[in-house]
This record gives sequence, structure tokens and C-alpha cells, in this order.
Amino acid sequence: MFASLVLLWVFIWIAILHFKSRRPKNFPPGPLNVPLLGSIFHLSLENPLKDFEKLRKSYGDVYSIFLGREPAVVINGVKAMKEAMVTKAADFAGRPQGLFVNELVDGKGVIMADYGSKWREQRRFGLTTLRNFGLGKNSMEERIHDEIKHIISTLEKNIGKTMSPRVMFHNAASNIICQVLFARRYTYDDELIKLFVGIFNEVSKIINGPWATLYDSFPIIRNLPLPFQKAFKKMENLSRRMVSEHRETRVPGEPRDFLDCYLDELEKVIYSVSCYTKSSFSEEELIIYLLNLHFAGTDTTSNTLLTGFLYLMNYPHIQGNTTPPCLVYVIFVMQAVIHEVQRMTNIVPLSIFHRTTKDTELMAYSIGTIVIPNLSSVLFEEGHGEFVRPGAFIKLPFICGQEDGVLRLAVWVGSCIHKLYVCNPHTHNNF
Ligand code: HEM
Repeated sequence: MFASLVLLWVFIWIAILHFKSRRPKNFPPGPLNVPLLGSIFHLSLENPLKDFEKLRKSYGDVYSIFLGREPAVVINGVKAMKEAMVTKAADFAGRPQGLFVNELVDGKGVIMADYGSKWREQRRFGLTTLRNFGLGKNSMEERIHDEIKHIISTLEKNIGKTMSPRVMFHNAASNIICQVLFARRYTYDDELIKLFVGIFNEVSKIINGPWATLYDSFPIIRNLPLPFQKAFKKMENLSRRMVSEHRETRVPGEPRDFLDCYLDELEKVIYSVSCYTKSSFSEEELIIYLLNLHFAGTDTTSNTLLTGFLYLMNYPHIQGNTTPPCLVYVIFVMQAVIHEVQRMTNIVPLSIFHRTTKDTELMAYSIGTIVIPNLSSVLFEEGHGEFVRPGAFIKLPFICGQEDGVLRLAVWVGSCIHKLYVCNPHTHNNF
């Protein structure tokens, strides 16, 4: 009797789960959803990008998967992406909550904040402050030019030797952001910058690795003492340290950097807030905001630069052969190079997940859920203008018939840095 009751209970439970995990009416199609486990068997834990492409072939540009019990819609291709992110931008402007990345930042900062008054307030402050630091004497351009001098000097010290540019570019990108955030530049052998860059690399691997997929798919593991928590605490402590150092040395009303501006704003809020208004500014928000900007600015920029460098290294024969005809030409070409390198680098292939802010429609499907913008599918889609037609870029007329045009353009990026010759020691005979 008892065994029958247990069996009946299990049967009812499975039936409920099965019913709950069915796709709602007019929801985008997708692979089989296993109750509790979702679409985990269709996605590789290490690198799900190829699986996303396979699913696109089976189900079309807009399809759905399940992250555990949570449905998510994957958007592919220029047409669907434009409808969601441009035409219906406000409907798709939210951020999902309760995922791995939210856990890391505890809902604070700007990148993972949901669409709403807090996000708007923090984002407005960030944009105004960063714009102010991009003008006048302390301009961003000036900082970048200064940093390039240090890159050149590092390269010069290594003439005739082999070196890995990875750490150098991470240090350089991090340093430019450090100057905006903390009004500080660090030498490349400084322990603090090494610590920042090392932890960013570690956290980046964790975010893009199997832990994130497991965490999102199996809520049951969330309360365990998981290894990633230690890495993130280390990163948070570094940010906390910068805030307390600034508190000790700042002069109120005379901000040196982003951090000082935020502390000034925080003070204004403390003195002016009435019991009826609730401000979103707080020291805890600041700590995560600093990490958001530092992290977002370091990994993205340095990996893009690394890809540009890879072009130079793999095609050394075209280095130093170019004589640009005029400045306008150089600017035009430079912009084209940056776009092409960014396209090929594909830094954030699945962007940062979005969420619909209300029930809406996309390509005639009804959607009200997590949204995964598959940026890779857009960057490599054929037939939507010259820059997203693979191979088209190298045939542009200003290349003068050179088939390795994109590389030649990349060389100009290189030659703007310096008249240095970079090559891959494994493939270069004369090295
Ligand atoms: C090659 C360089 C970069 C690439 C490829 C890149 C890419 C992206 C992408 C794909 C997003 C998601 C947009 C969306 O939600 O639809 C994003 C958001 C963001 N990025 Fe970047 N990024 C780069 C550089 C930077 C830098 C230098 C900073 C700051 C110093 C930065 C700060 C941010 C912030 C704060 C957001 C969140 C915006 C919001 O939710 O309101 N990024 N980035």
C-alpha cells in the first residue's frame, strides 16, 4: 500500500514537472526539455557555440532552450536581432536575475542591473562622468597615447627576443581604465596591476566555463561552497581597497577620477535625501560598479588588440610596406580595420543576456523571458552589407587589388604604434 502511494506520488510529481516544462502556446520551438535538467544534453558545458549553430539549423532564427527550468529564447541573424534590439529595444532591455553572473555581483553595479530606475540612475551617472573624463586636459585619447609609449618601450626591450603580448595588452588596457577610475597608472611589473589582471583572467574563465552552465541549470548546487566564490571575493576586496584609499586622500568637491565623483555624489545623496526618496547610490554599489567598468574594459579591449596583433604575426611579409596617401584615407582605413578586427575577434559571442520587460512578440512568436542574443550569428552572417560578408572586406577598392587587404590595413594599425616588425617565432624562418 505504502509503495503504491509513493509510486503514485512520484507519477503525479513527474506529470506536474512535465506539464510545467512544456513550451507555452506560440513560444519559439526548440529541443526536448527534460524536466529539471532543461536543455543541458543539447549544450556542451565547455563551448556551447557550435550547439547554438546546430539548433539554429534545426529550429530557425528564433528558438528556445531551457536553462534548468527557466525558458530562454535564442536570437540569431541580423533580421531577428534588429527587430529585438533596435525596433523593440525597450521590450528587450531587461536583464535576467538569479543567474550565475547575478550571483557574482549580488544584483549591484550597472551591467547586470535590471531595467528600471536604479539602472537608469547609475547608468546616467556613469555616462556623464565618463564623458567628463574624456574631455579636456585629461582626455581619454591622451591617456591612450601615453599608454602606447609604454607598449612601444616594452616591445623595444624585447627586440630580437620572443615575448607573449597577452600580459602586456591586458596591463595596457587595464591601466587606461585605472587612470579613469582611480587616477593611477601602474608600471607593468607592479604587484597590484598583476593581481587585478590575474584575477580578471581567472573570473573570466569561470564565467565562460562549465560552472556558469551548471549553476544556471541546477539551482540545487547553489548553496554549496563552490570554488568560484573565492576568486570573486578576491576581486571585490581589491575594489574595496581602492575605495578606502580614496576616502582617506580625497578632497570633497575636487574629484580626481570616477571613484571620487561617485563619493561626491554619495555625499550629496546622504545630505539631501528625504525619507520619501530612496537613492540607488551606495558604497556597495560603487564597489561593484568599479569592478564592472574595470573588468568590462580590460578583457574586451586587450583581446581585441591581441587579435589585431595575430594578423600582423601571421602575415609578417606585408609589414612595413605601406605608404598611406593622405590623413583622411588613414582615418577611413583605420576605422575599417577596427571594425573588421572586432568582427573577427567576436569578443562577447552571446553578448550579455537580456530579458523582456513585458510580454512581447518577435518574428511572430510570443515571448516573455530570458533572451540570449547570439552575436556570433550576426558577425558571420553572409549577405548583409560589405562588413558582415566574410571575405568582402579584403576586396574593398581602396586595397588596390591586394588579396591580403585586411592584413595590410592591420599593418597600418601596427605602423601607427611603431616601425616594429612582429612575427611568430614558430613559423618565421629568419628569426
Ligand atoms: C572591444 C571592446 C568592447 C566590446 C566588444 C564590448 C562589448 C559589449 C557588449 C556586447 C555588451 C552588451 C550589450 C547589451 O547588453 O546588449 C557590453 C556592455 C557593456 N560594456 Fe562593453 N565592450 C567593450 C568595451 C567596453 C569598455 C572599454 C567598457 C568600459 C570602460 C565597457 C563597459 C560596458 C558596460 C558598463 C556595459 C553594460 C551596459 C548596460 O547594461 O547598460 N565595455 N559591452
